[in-house]
Amino acid sequence: MAENTGTATITIHGKSYDLPIHTPTAGPEVIDIRNLYAQADVFTYDPGFTSTAACDSTITFIDGAKGELLHRGYPIDQLASQSHYLEVCYLLLYGELPSAEEQERFESLVTNHTMIHEQMHNFFRGFRRDAHPMATMVGVVGAMSAFYHDSTDINDAHQREVASIRLIAKMPTIAAMAYKYSIGQPFVYPRNDLDYAANFLHMCFSVPAEEYHVNPILARAMDRIFTLHADHEQNASTSTVRLASSSGANPFACIAAGIACLWGPAHGGANQACLEMLKEIGTPDRIPEFIARAKDKNDPYRLMGFGHRVYKNFDPRATVMKESADEVLDLLGVENNPVLQVAKELEKQALADPYFADKKLFPNVDFYSGIILEAMGFPTSMFTPIFALARTVGWISQWKEQLADPQLKIGRPRQLYLGATARDYVDIEKR
Ligand code: SDX
Repeated sequence: MAENTGTATITIHGKSYDLPIHTPTAGPEVIDIRNLYAQADVFTYDPGFTSTAACDSTITFIDGAKGELLHRGYPIDQLASQSHYLEVCYLLLYGELPSAEEQERFESLVTNHTMIHEQMHNFFRGFRRDAHPMATMVGVVGAMSAFYHDSTDINDAHQREVASIRLIAKMPTIAAMAYKYSIGQPFVYPRNDLDYAANFLHMCFSVPAEEYHVNPILARAMDRIFTLHADHEQNASTSTVRLASSSGANPFACIAAGIACLWGPAHGGANQACLEMLKEIGTPDRIPEFIARAKDKNDPYRLMGFGHRVYKNFDPRATVMKESADEVLDLLGVENNPVLQVAKELEKQALADPYFADKKLFPNVDFYSGIILEAMGFPTSMFTPIFALARTVGWISQWKEQLADPQLKIGRPRQLYLGATARDYVDIEKR
C-alpha cells in the first residue's frame, strides 16, 4: 500500500472531513475516499471512472500526456524492439525479466500446454459456421471451467498458476480453431517445434494438403502485435476481469467476461471497426466526407482507430505498430495496398484538422494493427480475437495481483439515484 502524504479536506454543508492522500511511484496522487460515505453519508460521482483509481497495481503504468507505457517499469518501445511476447508475459506475471533458465522453463511450460482437451472440439461444432469468432471464444473459454476443474480453485496458489499457464498457452489454439471453423477448414494442432507466434500463424494458415512454412518476418510482426496488446492498466476489459474475479469467480469465467467486454467497437473491437471504416472510405478522395461526419456534433459517427481514453498526446504502441505495418506491407509487396493508402492519407488529414488536434485525437494501437493483420491474410472478424489472445496475459496478471491483495473485497459501485421515490401499487382497474 502507498504511504500517506497528507490529507485532503472536503467541506460538505459546512462540515469538514479529512481524507488521506496516497502517493504513487508514478502518476497522480490519489485521495482515499473509501470512508467518506460512512463519515459524511455521501457518494462520489464519476461515470466511466475517468478520475477514479479502482485499485493499486504494480504491473503497468501509462502517462497519457507523455505517451508513455511501462510494463513493470520497462518502456513498451524497448520491449517491442528488444524482447518477445513470452518474455513480456513472464515480466507481467512475475514482475521481473527472467534469467535464461527461468525463460526456458516458462516457455517449455507454455509450449507443452497448447493443446486443448479433445472433447472441447465438439463445442466449436455447436456454433454456426458464420458465428463471429469472438462469440466462439467467449463460449469456449468460459467452458474451460467445465474441463479443467483442477485449476479453478482461486484460493490455491498452485491452481492459480496452472490456470494462468493454461490460458496463455491455449488461447492461440482456441483463436486459431475459431478461425478454421469459420472458414470450414480442419483444425490444425499446435506444434512444439514452433515459437508462440509462428505456432499461431501455422495453426491459422496451414492446411493438411501441403507444407506451410511460417515467414519469420511475419512471425516477428505477429509477436510484436501480441506484445503491444499485452496489458494496459485498468482498461474496460481488465476492469471487467477484476470485477468478475472480486466475486470469487473461477479464472476461466473471469477471462471469458474480459473477452466479452473487449468485443465492443469502442474498445478491442475498434481494430475490426477501423478496417471496415477504411474499406468503406475506399479511396482517399472520400476522406473529407468521413472526417466531416466525425466532426458533426449531431452525428454519433467517430473515426475508428482514433482517440483514446488515457493517451491525450499519442499512443506509443501505434508508433511501433506503424513501423511493423511498413515492414510487413513492404515484405508482402503490398506497400501500395489501397487500404494503407487511405489509412496514411486519413491520418495526415485528420491530424492536420484543428478538431482532432485540439481534442488530441490521433491514431491509437488499433489504427495500424488492423492493416498488418489484413495484409497477413486475416479476415477483419479475427482482429479482436487476436487482441483477446494477446491481452490474456494482462488480464491474468491483473487477476493474480487482485487475488493477492489483502484489501480485496467484492466490487460494488453505488449510484446517483434519480428514479421514483417510494409509492404504493395501483390495481390495474384504477390505472
Ligand atoms: C482501446 O482503455 C484502454 O486502454 C483501451 C485500449 C487498451 O489497450 O485496452 O487502449 C484499447 O480500446 C483503444 C481505443 C479504441 N477505440 C476506438 O478507436 C474507437 C474510436 N474512439 C472513440 O470511441 C474514443 O476516442 C474512445 C472511446 C477511445 C475514448 O473516448 P474518450 O476519451 O471518453 O473521449 P470522449 O468520448 O470523451 O471524446 C472526447 C471528445 C468528444 O467530443 P466533445 O463531446 O468533447 O465535443 O472527442 C470526440 C468526442 O465526440 N471524439 C471523437 C473520437 N473520439 C473522441 N470524435 C471523432 N472520432 C473519434 N474517434
